[in-house]
Amino acid sequence: MQTHPGTIRSIKYEKIGTHEHNRFEKIHNVVFKKSSEASRLVAEEIADLIRRKNDKGERCVLGLATGSSPVSVYKELVRMHKEEGLSFKNVVTFNLDEYYPMNPGSIHSYHYFMNEHLFNHIDIPKGQVFIPDGKIAQDKLAEYCLAYEKKIAEYGGLDFQLLGIGRTGHIGFNEPGSHYNSITRSITLDQLTREDAATSFLGIENVPKKAITMGVSSVKNAKRIVLLAWGHKKSEIIKRTVEGEVSSSIPATYLQEHGNTTFVLDTEAASLLTRFESPWLVDAVDWTDDMTKRAVVWLCDKVKKSILKLTDKDYNESGLASLLAERGSSYELNIDMFNELQHTITGWPGGKPNADDTHRPERAVPEKKRVIIFSPHPDDDVISMGGTFDRLVEQGHEVHIAYQTSGNIAVSNADALKFAEVAMDFLPKEKIKTLGDVIKSINEKKENEIDALSVRQLKGFIRKRESIAATRFLKVPDKQVHFLNMPFYETGTVKKNPLSEKDIEIVKKLIAKVKPHQVYAAGDLADPHGTHKVCLDAVFHAMGALKSESYMKDCWLWLYRGAWHEWEIHEIDMTVPMSPDQVLRKRKAIFFHQSQKDGVMFQGEDLREFWVRAEDRNKKTAEHYRNLGLADYAAMEAFKRFEY
Ligand code: F6R
Repeated sequence: MQTHPGTIRSIKYEKIGTHEHNRFEKIHNVVFKKSSEASRLVAEEIADLIRRKNDKGERCVLGLATGSSPVSVYKELVRMHKEEGLSFKNVVTFNLDEYYPMNPGSIHSYHYFMNEHLFNHIDIPKGQVFIPDGKIAQDKLAEYCLAYEKKIAEYGGLDFQLLGIGRTGHIGFNEPGSHYNSITRSITLDQLTREDAATSFLGIENVPKKAITMGVSSVKNAKRIVLLAWGHKKSEIIKRTVEGEVSSSIPATYLQEHGNTTFVLDTEAASLLTRFESPWLVDAVDWTDDMTKRAVVWLCDKVKKSILKLTDKDYNESGLASLLAERGSSYELNIDMFNELQHTITGWPGGKPNADDTHRPERAVPEKKRVIIFSPHPDDDVISMGGTFDRLVEQGHEVHIAYQTSGNIAVSNADALKFAEVAMDFLPKEKIKTLGDVIKSINEKKENEIDALSVRQLKGFIRKRESIAATRFLKVPDKQVHFLNMPFYETGTVKKNPLSEKDIEIVKKLIAKVKPHQVYAAGDLADPHGTHKVCLDAVFHAMGALKSESYMKDCWLWLYRGAWHEWEIHEIDMTVPMSPDQVLRKRKAIFFHQSQKDGVMFQGEDLREFWVRAEDRNKKTAEHYRNLGLADYAAMEAFKRFEY
């Protein structure tokens, strides 16, 4: 078996690490801090290929993917076309797949996606674009698929195939079980794939059950393959694909046998690869404090012991002999690490007044701090840090809550209708005209249509009032609750506008007004297209721009994680424990966000309600601390301090 390619390396990546050879990895991969930078370099490789082919008077045959992963690559190709004159006249494209049945005009179709993101903006001749037709009659399907396959061969095969990867390990829509020799055909989508697509289809019931996809063999025949994966969500499948055995249960592992494949990853997607998760098993490492903390937590998890019970033998037998050699003995090292973790725990997230703060996560002075909690959607504050929020208020700090977006698209029509009709029942006749229009608009809305502005406004108000109910419950005065309604969010669809100066200005204005000592923000660093990442970027930009202001010298930035996953133990700088009663108070605060309960619009792959997710996550953190030998709490919220 060929384990990794020794052929072209046209990607001149300025990366964090390149796999050349380690005993765990079987696919060449490069890792970047930012997916935007990675996408730019992939686009450059494609552009180079197009130009080289053009210089030789040849056609360039590209295999293309849809989904969130390649969006920035397409954006960069469009930019190159517009600004640098990159021409696509010699390019022929074959898309990997299409839902079935699917009308090419639907906003959910891959035809629509490709036109939106690429074809409408470049000079590719229409006749050179091929995308499987989701409208083909069932009895013509087999014949159609064979013809698609034949067409690729007629054009001399694919010069370059761009891929994403599904969490099932699918490439194209080759779901688990797909054969190594499979060619273009119709398939049934895996349940997990349908759940992942549910958000953009506004509910899993709208996601088609079938698709047409190029086969594994069609993909593997490409001369060059680049697979993109961004974000934590992909880390598990990337590890299994790059380090596991070739198996039909993870079709992407077939790429281990392709001689010229590169996986282009961001740090989050790569985070479970052995060389990142436990780098000491791969190479000599520099035993910084951070690396040591990581190794000790990893060792505890591996041998299932608490820190103070680790022995020299445990270190030596688990590949940590070099750490032990550097630190002398496990005894001292264990105590150091125990203390490090112990010092992250505090019931005083705003600092403990009149206490020695040498080993506390926050400063004792000023005793009363001004705090801004930025919440991307109008419930992330309570879901992700409701317990800490409650303590900050209780301990007398001036807590401001800033809801960054209206969150309006996550309110169902049924909820909006309910509120409109309640208001209608209540209001005198002469005042109900607008409401009548709203109700009519909801009732007459067709599938694929976005909500009318008035409906969106109503939905935004519903979330606003729910938020205020929650902040009042946590005893924050209304004047300290800010609804920023950042404009990037207001498209009425899942796809948002890019962050603009206007968005940043709004955040800046609030910071300049409050002059906070602490800022809390949702730190989902590597979610390239998500609202949380855009909201975080706005905070970064705003704080960066205000850095020279004197009040900012005293301002610390704490990042919490969104609803889906928590910081790793070694990343945590502050953990705030909760008693069982505080857990219940947090649950109650989340309950005020009624439009997000009992079956939300954007359920995603996790079917638990938000309050359950939050409780499970906080309980897990507490259990992890307990397993490391620290105090046994009911739940814990975790934060990372960020230097901006
Ligand atoms: C899309 C396709 C799929 C996606 C995969 C990842 O044409 O073939 O294999 O690449 O589902 O999707 P995203 O990029 O949205 O995570």
